[in-house]
Amino acid sequence: MHSLIRKINKKHNSAFTFLLMLCFIPPNVLATTVSAPINPPVTSQPLQPAIYSKMSIHHPVWAEHGMVATQEALATQIGLDILKQGGNAVDAAVAVGYALAVTLPRAGNLGGGGFMLVYLANSKKVIAIDYREKAPSGASRDMYLDQAGEVIPNLSTYHGLAVGTPGTVMGLEHARKHYGTLTREQLMAPSIKLAKEGIIVTADLANSLTAMQKRLSQWPETQRIFYKKEGINYQAGDLFIQTDLANTLTTISQQGEKGFYQGEIAQAIANSVQEAKGNMSIKDLQQYNVVEREAIKGSYRGVQIYSMPPPSSGGVHIVQILNMLENYDLTSMGHNSAQHIHTLAETMRRAYADRSLHLGDSDFVKVPVNTLTSKKYAKQLVAGINPDHATSSKDIQPDANLPYESDQTTHFSIIDQWGNAVSNTYTLNYSYGSGMVAKGTGVLLNNEMDDFSAKPGHPNGYGLIGGEANAIAPNKRPLSSMSPTIVLKDEQLFMVTGTPGGSRIISSTLQLISNVIDFNMNIADATAATRIHHQWLPDTIRIESGLSLDTIRLLEAKGHELQLKQTMGSTQSIIKQKSGFYGASDPRTPSSLSLGY
Ligand code: GLY
Repeated sequence: MHSLIRKINKKHNSAFTFLLMLCFIPPNVLATTVSAPINPPVTSQPLQPAIYSKMSIHHPVWAEHGMVATQEALATQIGLDILKQGGNAVDAAVAVGYALAVTLPRAGNLGGGGFMLVYLANSKKVIAIDYREKAPSGASRDMYLDQAGEVIPNLSTYHGLAVGTPGTVMGLEHARKHYGTLTREQLMAPSIKLAKEGIIVTADLANSLTAMQKRLSQWPETQRIFYKKEGINYQAGDLFIQTDLANTLTTISQQGEKGFYQGEIAQAIANSVQEAKGNMSIKDLQQYNVVEREAIKGSYRGVQIYSMPPPSSGGVHIVQILNMLENYDLTSMGHNSAQHIHTLAETMRRAYADRSLHLGDSDFVKVPVNTLTSKKYAKQLVAGINPDHATSSKDIQPDANLPYESDQTTHFSIIDQWGNAVSNTYTLNYSYGSGMVAKGTGVLLNNEMDDFSAKPGHPNGYGLIGGEANAIAPNKRPLSSMSPTIVLKDEQLFMVTGTPGGSRIISSTLQLISNVIDFNMNIADATAATRIHHQWLPDTIRIESGLSLDTIRLLEAKGHELQLKQTMGSTQSIIKQKSGFYGASDPRTPSSLSLGY
């Protein structure tokens, strides 16, 4: 009987599967969820059969009207409350964006930047909002090099020169003004309350503050805010109040973006950066601008993929890799078989090599987006893939090396009752960014300047991403991997997804999409499935736990080197179907939660 069900599932015959499932599932059995909702959704419609299948290990959260998936439970609840009050997906996204700055300070932020994709159900349009940080006008190509041309350690990471002009507040305000429906005060009130009255410290927050104590305590203002007197750590269960941040949020709530980019807060940010020997001026803050860009568009086995264009590399390379994968019958290879992983690794290797050479801020350099995302170019690349043996990355140009890329970004996905959607990824770059809090504001400042190439083309690898195209220039935006993504099927909204994870964002997002499309997984199984990553250099397949030793041996026999490392990504995804919304927050992150109503 099981093999019969498998066969039927393979044919996507969900109606027949449903009838079979009814034979096995008692009517009162509700599925367990990956992240159990605080208030489990009350269902007034039949459960979607493929979701509550006995063939699935993980099950998504189901809801009838709307869904919010974020990396932190309090922020999810705030987004859900906004949806229930009649706000649309953008309203909820703005509220969540501010809330995460309070509840997930290592990545949620006011002092960083990011990208938001908005799907407007009425016009069926996808809008891409770029609120990435910009290099201050005093920045220069060689600003991190000494006289001998060598990179000076820590300047692009833990120093005033590491801070890019923040974009988050203007990005959220732009989204609200153009696509939201509720007032700024309504959307910011919950986060002001949380900052003022305090949040209960979770084990996750306590752990991250403990891990970061040495680095953060170098900044007296940061030490004052994030640690108790005498430098004692907050413990899980403690109350954590952020009075300065509450005041900053109140100012923004009353004055809008001017409250952040002009006046006392802007002055405090510029002063703190300059005291730390950076060169950001109040003028840089006053002149910061958000850009609406054309989303990257691709297709994969009949669904349409929309993702973020440069200065993110995410959209281009998700589409490029999916274009290559379309040339293979992944389904018949079997999920995470050696042949499947070999094919993923070989396609990723080629795309990440291209990334290192071609990608940068398209306002400053020409990025060959059309070629990189064309099916023809994908076929050309696929022609060089040997199905039986790994290609050495040495044999794939170009010649840059890619060092550490922070995975401390955060993503949220939201769909409202009208079918509007938001896919948003934003970041401070490193965990808690530069570690510097601007005096008296409670605002942690990013170290996004580290995402530029400090020494473009250097063979031993300095600079986060790539070569000349990603060299530093005044007012330029550093290249990113952040890939908020929206998938349409039959011209209808189908999936909203994205993840943190540095360079692994691209590979994690495309594996999630492929897991749903090629392997017919529900969104929770697709989320939980073991991920792999290859980024050209280093020439290894990075794997999570969960692959069999047999598979690993088969991959080694093909010439691959594998490295078992920390888990990758924290996808926050929602699928929309006729029967409702299905959300899955990544079990890799302890506090993440999907909730619907
Ligand atoms: N800072 C990580 C990224 O932008 O991809």
